[in-house]
This record gives sequence, C-alpha cells and structure tokens, in this order.
Amino acid sequence: MCGIVGCILDKKVAPTIIESIKKLEYRGYDSVGIATVTDTINVKKGSGKIKEVDDEIKLTDIDGNIGIAHVRWATHGNPTKENAHPHCDCDNKISVVHNGIIENFKELRQELIQEGHIFKSETDTEVIPHLIEKFMKEGNDLLKSTQLAIKKLIGSYALAVISTEEPDKIIGARNESPLIVGVSDNGNFLASDVPAILNETRKVIYLEDKEIIQLEKDKVTIMDINLNPLEKEIKTIDWNPEMAEKDGYDHFMLKEIFEEPQVIKDTLFESEKIKEIVSKFKNFNRIYFVACGTSYHASLVGEYLIETQLGIPTEVILASEFEYFQKTLDDHTLVIFITQSGETADTIKALKVAKPVSETLAIVNVVGSSITREAHHVIYTRAGPEIGVAATKTYLSQLICIYLLVAHLGENEELIEKLHSIHELSLESFDREEEIKKIAKRYKSAKDFFYIGRGFNYPTALEGALKLKEITYIHAEGYPAGELKHGPLALIEEGIPVVGILPPGASYAKTFNNLQEIRARGANMILLGAENDTQIDDVEDKLLFNSTIDEIIAPLLYIIDLQLLSYHISVEKSIDPDKPKNLAKSVTVV
Ligand code: F6R
Repeated sequence: MCGIVGCILDKKVAPTIIESIKKLEYRGYDSVGIATVTDTINVKKGSGKIKEVDDEIKLTDIDGNIGIAHVRWATHGNPTKENAHPHCDCDNKISVVHNGIIENFKELRQELIQEGHIFKSETDTEVIPHLIEKFMKEGNDLLKSTQLAIKKLIGSYALAVISTEEPDKIIGARNESPLIVGVSDNGNFLASDVPAILNETRKVIYLEDKEIIQLEKDKVTIMDINLNPLEKEIKTIDWNPEMAEKDGYDHFMLKEIFEEPQVIKDTLFESEKIKEIVSKFKNFNRIYFVACGTSYHASLVGEYLIETQLGIPTEVILASEFEYFQKTLDDHTLVIFITQSGETADTIKALKVAKPVSETLAIVNVVGSSITREAHHVIYTRAGPEIGVAATKTYLSQLICIYLLVAHLGENEELIEKLHSIHELSLESFDREEEIKKIAKRYKSAKDFFYIGRGFNYPTALEGALKLKEITYIHAEGYPAGELKHGPLALIEEGIPVVGILPPGASYAKTFNNLQEIRARGANMILLGAENDTQIDDVEDKLLFNSTIDEIIAPLLYIIDLQLLSYHISVEKSIDPDKPKNLAKSVTVV
C-alpha cells in the first residue's frame, strides 16, 4: 500500500507536499517522511501518523523547491523511523520513495553489500537508491540510472527519485502500483492517487506499467521502459478539492456515510450506460463475481439478486482464491470484478487470469485506476473520493450498480423504479442516529457481536460485522440466520449483543424464528426491522425502517444504520475510525 508524492514548484515545496501526502494517509500511517533537494538531500521522517510526526519534528520545516514524500503501510521491516521512507544511497545524494514490493530485494541487497554499499534499513526499497547510485557512479545520468535500476527489479513499484547531481527534476516509474502525474501552471506532481493533487490541479495523466517519467518545473516527459518518449492524454478530473476534505464532520467516515443519499442519486445516473453495456453482452450461462472485503460482500448481494431474479448460476470468489477456479472459465462466462480502488493487487491478478478466456466487467470507483484499463467493460460507481479506510459510501454505490445491472439484464422496470425510491428512504437513517448512538454507548464494551441475516441480507450481516471489526476492534461474526443452530449457537450466552436483520419478505418468518431461538439463549437483540412489525414490539433495542422496504432492497438501506452503529461505537471507544490499526485503504500487495 503506502502513498507517494513528488512535487516541483517555484517556491518552497514542503508545505504543499505535506498537504498532499496527508490526502494519501488512507494508504498507510505507520510512518511518514519527506525529502527535498537543495545542494544536499534534506530528509525528515518518523514513525506514526503524519500529525504525530509533524508535531514532533515539523515536517514542513525543510527548504527546497523539489521534493518527495511517503506514507507507509509496513511490509518489509517494522514501522520504525529507520524503515520510514525516503531512503538514500551511501553518499546521501539520491533519495527514493516507493510503494510496492521488490520481490528480489534479498538477492539485490546481498550483491550490493558485497560491492560495498551500506544499508541503514530493513526495507526492500533501500536497494533502489543503492542501485541508482551504482549506475550513476558508472557515468549514467539520473534518468538512465533509474531505468537501469528498475530493469533489475522484480515486483511492484511506484517510485519517485531525486538527486543532488540533477537537482531540477524528479524521476518516477510505475509497475503494478498506481502512479499519476498532475500538471499545472504552478508546478508538476507525481502521486499515488488523485486526492493528493486535487488542491493543486485537476489535470491528470494516468501512467501504465513500465512507464518512466521525468518531471521538471515546466515539462513532463513520459517514456516507455526503453526511454522512448510517449504521447499521453491529459485528462480533467471531475472531482473537486472539497470532496477530499472533512467539511466540518469529525471524521471522513461520518462525512462519507452522510454523503450516501447523494451517492445513490449520482450512481443511478449510470443507468443508461449500464443498459448500453448490457446490450453488448452475449448470452452467458454463468457469472462469477471476484472481489475482496467489502466489495466481496457487495458481490454476494449480486449473487442472490442474479440467481433469484435471473436464474443464472452465479458464484462469488474472493480475488485471492480466484486462481484455483481458473480451469472452470470459458467464453460463456461473465466475470465481474468489484473494486473501489481499482488497484487491489489480488483483484488485478484475478482479472489477468480471467481476461484471456472470459468476458470481463469491472465495477470501479476510481477513474483511470489499473483495473479500468484492463477489463473489457467498466461501470463507474459515482461515490467520489473515499478517504475513510472503512468502505461506506462506495459499498452503497457498488450495490446500486449491481442492482441496475440486474434490472437491465432482466429488463425489470419495476426494480428500476424501486431503486429511484431509495434516495428518500436513505435519508431516514439519519433520523435514527440518536437511537444508534444510545445503542453504541450501551454495547461499546462488548467483546463479541453477532450479525444475523438471511438471503439478500446475509451479506448485510457480513458487512455489518466487518465494519464493526475494522473500526472498533470488537470481534464480530456475520451468519446466515438458519446456520447458527449448526454450531455457533454454542457461543450465544447471556447478554451477548446480536444484531438481527429482519425486513419484511419471503424470508421473514424463518428469520424471525431463528432470532427467537437466539433470544431464548439470553442474547441481547438489536433488531433492524419494519416499523409496522408488531411481532418485535417487545425488543428493547430496535431500529425501525419504513415498511415499504422489502428484503430485496433492504441491503441498500439497512447497511447505513449498521455503518453508523460501528462508527459511533468506534468514537465511544476513542478509536480513530478513519485510520484503523493495521489497515490501509488500497491493498496493493498480494
Ligand atoms: C473494508 C474495506 C476493504 C476493501 C477491500 C477491497 O471496509 O474497505 O475490505 O473493501 O480491501 O478493496 P477494493 O474495493 O478497493 O478492491
């Protein structure tokens, strides 16, 4: 994961670059560092979140108009100051920030040590400045030396390099880790993701694997791996800087939950495009969804919808497990990849397996991300930038796209009409926020939680439980309602909180009975159900939804309350929900 930024201005660069890297903190917050080039390489770095490190060592207190910065999600080496990027060569003349993993770093490190290079960290990255040093000492310039260095690397990288030998430029390169170029009249930028540059420019060039960039104050040169110049299109992003700000909310996560009604509206605008894509599909006799984490849960809702509404056999496979299914692919299979970031390494890898054999469709939030350039068809979720590490509004936007896809595949006008009623209904979640806060206070000290749902709302239970685990560190399990009696019921004891998801519909009666079985074992039930449901009158903790919300559309609405519940428990426990420990938003390692 990790995030990198490189920036050239005609004024002191540090304040701009630190503001930029803050926008990438969702990618990692184990450590932060900045390097600028003057007549020396100036480095400031430390372990911890940007604010903590900045309070201690004043990251912006560093001269130079050209600089690079990094936030780290540790892979090789503990999250210490020594392992924090940027990393330098032996003579402190070259400095590098890197996102990705160099798989052959051990061999390279050994060779370089034998040649006399001295390493100061345990990271895989540090081989890069030493390799560049070696090639520069052989008489090559910075660009050529970087090219020669990356030709030796096996693995993934997005990197930015500066050197005192050529203090007017930044060299960048990418392979299997995201990197974009931002261009403006005031300077030029390199970054892992668009939010980092939104305050400075909306003009973006997306880079492909094995491309190399030379960034100068008034010039950007993009080359292939052999340094042949390439013509690249400059795209204008329709996101604005405010979208990447907290806007008065205490946390990005809360802001992003409150944005959900608008996201529903915006994503519904994709209906015509989805219809057009569907019209190009041939007849499939099987559908696979491939995704990770929250996107996997959105896919599960898709499975229930497709199988019940269209009768097409559908399977959801975790991206990291997909390679074991590759022999079952054929040209009558549609493989749908769901990913917010479009950069998840497991999902990219799976797409590369599926694409030569089957038709592929990607449902992605980040425009121009790697997956959008690989898949045969792309649907964009219109959620805008999501900064909170826990996915919220993007989950909802993925669901809207999936529902639209199913509606168009089945020419189901009734479902499309229903989707247009979701926006109004979603606003009602915020009327329940005070009740949700009370429940959060009551259960903030729980050690375990169960989330129970059936059919379309089994994935809602899984996603509710995942949100709770991620941002409150409470152990939580999502289960299909009928499955508890086959084992997990043994864990139900007096006072354990169980979230029951009980919308009206065909599965209501069975789910109700299962929840009664759990209550009978002493669990404290937190019920999400219809406001006209008199059978749940005696449940103390209830979140009551509009009775028109049936079990088919409930996944789009009940989840908002569950996101709010996790958020408020997190806040009650004084955890920062935007930056849960050990996690990062964009998972670019397999
Ligand atoms: C959970 C969360 C993760 C992601 C997963 C896949 O809140 O955000 O589980 O859903 O890492 O990421 P994308 O969707 O970017 O492929």
